[in-house]
Amino acid sequence: MQSPCAEIQAQVSDRILEITINRPERKNALTMAMYSAMAELLNGAASSAEVRVVVISGAEGVFTSGNDLMDFLGGSASGADSPVFQFMVALYNFPKPVVAAVNGPAVGIGTTMLLHCDMAFAGDDAMFQMPFVNLGLCPEYGSSFFLPRLAGHAKASELLLLGKKFGADEAVALGICNAAVPADEALARARQTAAELAAKAPEAVRLSKQLLRAGSYERGLEVMKEEGSHFQCRLASEEFKEAATAFMEKRPADFSKFE
Ligand code: COA
Repeated sequence: MQSPCAEIQAQVSDRILEITINRPERKNALTMAMYSAMAELLNGAASSAEVRVVVISGAEGVFTSGNDLMDFLGGSASGADSPVFQFMVALYNFPKPVVAAVNGPAVGIGTTMLLHCDMAFAGDDAMFQMPFVNLGLCPEYGSSFFLPRLAGHAKASELLLLGKKFGADEAVALGICNAAVPADEALARARQTAAELAAKAPEAVRLSKQLLRAGSYERGLEVMKEEGSHFQCRLASEEFKEAATAFMEKRPADFSKFE
């Protein structure tokens, strides 16, 4: 299976598709081309008999720093027909198990995509964050719906309103990851789990995944769309421009002038 984009690597072996996010000079920040490539790979794997399980990880000790902020500042879309949304829907609807291995930063969609993976293993170097409000944005990828269900309202508010960073142990306590493991074992654990899943009866696995998600599927999709349209508006806001410019200028954002 060939990736259409050099910054997303893809390899199939033993019925496992490994997708590696590989843009280390930008901490694996995701561009439109990278989202499109991941959507294409997932959509291809969904109907391929060669693939029973997908493993997602990031190169060089980083999962992903989330959406490329320059792309966002440049006005790239996140609406329903955008590459971001196509990736979100491809993963959300993916019928086979997805196992993530997280090392280093997993920021923004780096954390929220884990809500849609089936299992995840975090290295003890992992750092999770959903800094949407810190950026003048709002929750995305169904996180305002799925996170309170997982963690309760108070904890979800702490993570989404304050945009606090958290580590591997907390990710496990929250139910976002299955286990915290030594940093150099995260990918091996994900691969081992993927191999176990790939050896099981494939139709039984697919049906079980579908049943596990059925209760939240429709509402989750609606929320993703609602969040997406707010998010798109927020990208045009002065609050976001201040936050993104501050990040590029390596200074704290100043929201004091906003009402
Ligand atoms: N978009 C664009 N560029 C990014 C980026 C992103 N999301 N994340 C990191 N980079 C760039 C930095 O600007 C820096 O570029 P420079 O070398 O030209 O200065 C380079 O990648 C290295 O990042 P740096 O911040 O120096 O690495 P770090 O190890 O100190 O911190 C992070 C890593 C991921 C914690 C930090 O980069 C970060 O918080 N990034 C922004 C995450 C974010 O807000 N994502 C959007 C969520 S919606």
